[in-house]
Amino acid sequence: MKVLVTGANGMLGTEVMRQLDRLEIPAVSSTIDDMDVTKLDVVRDVLHRECPTHIIHTAAFTLVDTAEKDKLLAYQINAEGTKNIAFFCRELDIELIYLSTDYVFSGEKGDPYTETDPTDPINMYGMTKLLGEEYVRVLLEKYKIVRTSWLNGLGGDYSRNFIETMLRVAKTRSTLSLVNDQVSHPTFTFDLAQALVTLLDVNVYGNYHVTNSGECSWYEFAQEIFSVAGVEDITIRPILSEQFRSAAKRPRYSALENTRFKDLGLKPLPYWKESLKEYFRRRRLSDSLSVPQEGQSPKAMQQ
Ligand SMILES: NC(=O)c1ccc[n+]([C@@H]2O[C@H](COP(=O)([O-])OP(=O)(O)OC[C@H]3O[C@@H](n4cnc5c(N)ncnc54)[C@H](OP(=O)(O)O)[C@@H]3O)[C@@H](O)[C@H]2O)c1
Repeated sequence: MKVLVTGANGMLGTEVMRQLDRLEIPAVSSTIDDMDVTKLDVVRDVLHRECPTHIIHTAAFTLVDTAEKDKLLAYQINAEGTKNIAFFCRELDIELIYLSTDYVFSGEKGDPYTETDPTDPINMYGMTKLLGEEYVRVLLEKYKIVRTSWLNGLGGDYSRNFIETMLRVAKTRSTLSLVNDQVSHPTFTFDLAQALVTLLDVNVYGNYHVTNSGECSWYEFAQEIFSVAGVEDITIRPILSEQFRSAAKRPRYSALENTRFKDLGLKPLPYWKESLKEYFRRRRLSDSLSVPQEGQSPKAMQQ
């Protein structure tokens, strides 16, 4: 087995590389500098050179609101980029794990979505990710499309994730209004990365929903973040989606049934509140590790 990871310096990609390294599985870390997935000839050359047996494709345009404006770039990376990867997976008989999202659904079902429910994205990011899924299903047989939701982790430029955003905002504001009618699963990259690496050895193909267990709204998620982080001097107010201006519409209830993952007898991912505590344990650890020594920058220490 030799696994190539795209988006290897991203929030999830970083954690997947750590997990492969931990299990001593031969892996190739691929960033946009190594292989821009929108460039067909570059994808051809890299995959012909590396000849991986498996690809975990995490590279994507993940700025949901910006995708409403930069539609073409989101399409080129999420749809065309995935098509390029899938095309050469077919030619070189490489198994593909493609990361997708709960945002392929409209959120109007009212119950958790199963892997076979009809999709109906309501924003450009979701549409481009769904187009990526379609290319994978048309071009390949040996694929796993893994849909997940609300990712948080300590890899890549993680300052953009919801937890860090809440902690940052709490430093400058005493009150905060948070949407309470959008519900899904906070999912942690360290749990998801373990599940993805486990799925490498599974020869049951198709769609999978893999998230941490339990669901909540953004408002409830923030309440728990501030409670675990010990942030007291902030008041948060629950609001409705229509009271919160954002460029992209977001599904109301996009919880995902992890049916097929469980049917394989694989251990469901932990309850999100437990993993939130684990996130802060790891965050404290990485903070303590990154206290710069005399004359040494934190960045230098990480390498
Ligand atoms: N974040 C979430 O809440 C969430 C929820 C559900 C599903 N997902 C899916 O999970 C996967 C990982 O998400 P994430 O949050 O870890 O994303 P992320 O941190 O934004 O990482 C995405 C990576 O893709 C790279 N990339 C962008 N354009 C590229 C290109 N043209 N060629 C090669 N690499 C390129 C980026 O590199 P640069 O940083 O150098 O541009 C970055 O390292 C994505 O497929 C995403 O759609 C995410």
